[in-house]
Parts: sequence; C-alpha cells; structure tokens
Amino acid sequence: MSADQTGRLLGDWLEDGPAYLALAKAFRALITDGRLPAGTRIPSERVLAAQCRIGRNTVTAAYSLLRTEGYLEGHRGAGTFTALPPGHQRVRTASQDARRFPENRIDLAVAQVPAPEPLLAEAVRDAACHVGKYTDGPVHDRVGLRELRQAIADRYTRRGLPTSADEIMVTTGAYQGWGLLLRLTAQRFDPVLVDAPTYPDAVQAIRSIAGRPLPVGLGPEGWDPELLVSACRQARPVLAYLMPDHHNPTGHVMPDEVREAVAAGARRSGTLLVVDETLSELTLEGPAPRPMAAFASRGQVVTIGSLSKIFWSGLNLGWIRATPSLISRLAALRGPGDAGNSVVNQLIARRLFDDYDAVLRERRLTLSARRDHLVGALRRHLPEWTFSPPRGGLCLWVDLGERVSSRLACAAEGLGVDILTGSRFAVEGTLDNRLRLPFVQPPDVLSEGVERLAAAYAAVRGHRSRPTAHALLAA
Ligand SMILES: Cc1ncc(COP(=O)(O)O)c(C=O)c1O
Repeated sequence: MSADQTGRLLGDWLEDGPAYLALAKAFRALITDGRLPAGTRIPSERVLAAQCRIGRNTVTAAYSLLRTEGYLEGHRGAGTFTALPPGHQRVRTASQDARRFPENRIDLAVAQVPAPEPLLAEAVRDAACHVGKYTDGPVHDRVGLRELRQAIADRYTRRGLPTSADEIMVTTGAYQGWGLLLRLTAQRFDPVLVDAPTYPDAVQAIRSIAGRPLPVGLGPEGWDPELLVSACRQARPVLAYLMPDHHNPTGHVMPDEVREAVAAGARRSGTLLVVDETLSELTLEGPAPRPMAAFASRGQVVTIGSLSKIFWSGLNLGWIRATPSLISRLAALRGPGDAGNSVVNQLIARRLFDDYDAVLRERRLTLSARRDHLVGALRRHLPEWTFSPPRGGLCLWVDLGERVSSRLACAAEGLGVDILTGSRFAVEGTLDNRLRLPFVQPPDVLSEGVERLAAAYAAVRGHRSRPTAHALLAA
C-alpha cells in the first residue's frame, strides 16, 4: 500500500499523549477492523514519516510497539507487513458448529426469506402440468432449459442490460457459479481480489482451489476506488469477486463513478470482474442500482445471480451471465457428476418469473418494515451500538464499539439466540467489533431477539476480563 493511501486510511490519528502511541492505536484499529487486511505491505518508516510530516523516531517507536504486539511482521529493509496476533484468529462460536433448533431459539444469524406461498405451490402444480413436454427427449442439458434462460435474460434486459438466452447458464446457485468460474480461470496460488469484509463462502471457494484471497478493505463509506485499482495494478488478480449492490454484510451500494473507475482499472490489469447480484434486486429505498456490467465493455464482467434471496433458497437455482463462448466453456466444465438442474425445478423457477415483480414488491414492503423494527429495537435496548440502516439487502452491519462480538455470540447462544460475529465476514480473523444482524424474522421475534442480545451484552460487559497490556497502552 502506498504512503498516500496509508495516510488517507490513518486519517486524523493524532491525539493527546505520546504521538507514537496514537499512531500505533490508529494502525491497530485499521488492522483489527479489516480495513488494513493482514499481509498488507505498509510503507517504510522513512516514507511514512515524510507522508505524515512527523519525526521518523515516532514511526519507528510505533512500528516497534506493533511488532511486539504481533500486529506487524518483517524487518527493516525486508518490508513491513500487517499481521494478526495469535489471539485474533477467527473464533468459532457454538452457533456455527452445533446449531440446534429447540423450541424458542431465535435465529439472528441466517439471512433467508420464507418461500412465497401460495405462489410456490401453484408453480409446483404448473410444473407438473408442463413436464410432459420434456419426458421423451434427452434431459442432460448443462446450460439449462431455454425457456428459463430466456426469462432470466429478459429480466436483465428490463433492468437496463440487454441480454439474450445464450448469455445465460442455469446453476444450482450463485455459489456454484462462483466455484465454476474459479475452476475455469484461476490456477493454484493465483491472487483473487475480494472486498473485505465479504460473503465468507466466496473466500472459502477461493481457498478450495488453493487460490490466494486478496482482500481490499471497505471504509465507512464503502469502496475506495484508488485502493481497488491499485490492488489490481500491483497484484494483477485474474478474478475479482465484488458485490456492488447491497453488499453483504455492510449494505453499501457502489456509486456509479466508482463502478466506472473499477471497471476501467480492471480492464487495464486484465482482471475479470465477477459480480455477485444475489442481493441486487432487494432495494428497499431509492433507485435500483444500475447493473455493474452496464459500466464495462462486453465480456469484462460476469454476473452471478440467484433466486435464493427473493424466492426461496430451497429452489437451489441460480445462474451465470457471460458471453456465449464463456458459457460453453463453463458448461463443459460441469462433468458427469453435475448434469445441471432438474427439469422440474427449472419449470418451477420459470413459472415464478411470471410473478417476479409482485413477489419483489411484497418482499420490499415486509423487509423495510422489519428493518425499521430492528433499528428501533436496537436503538431502545442497545443505544451504544452504531450502524447505518442500509437501503437494501437483508442485514444490519453493527459496530459494537469494542472487540466483543465472539464473546457476545457465546453469551447469546446461552440465552437461545444465534448470531454471526463480524469475524465470519473477515478474510482474516478481524472485525470482532462487528456483528451482522439480519432483519428477515417477524417483528415479535426481532424484539425478543434484541432483548436477549441486550441481556447477553450486559453479561459480557459485566464480566470483562482485566484490561490487556495493549488496552492499557492504547488508553
Ligand atoms: C452474497 C451472497 N452470494 C451468494 C449466496 C449464495 O447464494 P446461492 O444460494 O444462490 O448459492 C449468498 C447466500 O447467503 C449470499 O449472501
């Protein structure tokens, strides 16, 4: 990271007391909340001192303290890299491992919507009536039924992105689409750019092909185009996985000018942009974002989409939008163990597309009411937590103000509430000051969940361990 970018991220860090402690504190905050991901090369002492217009001794003392604490690695001359002290490794909570479903448990972890009924049942009946059309021909079709691909393509065209059925391949979900793209285009150890924080399974998929996630941190306002573009220029990632619309977990929407800058930067570095639009149509307020592919030249953006968050995740139905030649190569990659989606499933999905707008309207009404309800309950019971209510998506991204998310998850588990800690969304084990709270549950469940969370939070704060050496130094 350049001195200029580091200086901007550090912001106005000077405060009362010794300057080196204030500088170390600012770095620590950037590293632990993921804006300076572990493994980032930071400027040398001399260069940072010149950038911040401070004495070199101040930087030397700050780096030395951070090295002792485990936040920096490397030695003078060989480069200095951010790191995470051992205690910061991602904490697995019981709620992740042993999800139990006794009566009266409250799930504030999973961001999934219930199936739209009676529409789903009608679509199943309709599929049963139409399946006869396919029963005496070959059924192994790895790109998907033409009529479903046409419905998906038409939806893109209506969103302002003219698309033909040949540019669509049906998958078992957005996740499968991402996995296929990784397998087709990335080699072992290839860097793959991701937002930090991001959807954890996207990172897991990169690791499963032995790729190297290259996290680029989002700030309080979202993406920093300069950081993204310079990461592309320096690391030349083959792929970048981005969620520009109602980002999971932060809820940010990428502004148009950032979309343009990112598309231009990726074009220069030869990076294929993979845009996850799983949440794109869940705009609760304001205009719907223009699809990222509309800002790039043909073939430069591949879009992955899904019916999981609008209709029902039990449909296992998603798609890839790409050039016809890329679609053919992806379809060929599926192999004998993956013959595509079932015909019946695709006919159900096809029928659901007829009611897409009506379902979306209903979802938006319900979700915005539930988002407002959750916001109100948190402001009443946990006023010290901060967040910006998102204008779309399914979740609030809460700042707890201190690194207690993992302990809170354990305490909440004991009170019958499942939550996901911020660190689940970090590429490394940072973001323990964050919590992702979905607003998909009915209002009474959200109220009860927040009351229990407030009790869990009080318990965590009441049993706070003795301050650590680092907290004392930072105080
Ligand atoms: C951003 C994002 N992408 C993809 C997925 C997975 O989608 P699918 O069920 O279609 O594989 C999820 C599910 O939580 C998600 O949040």
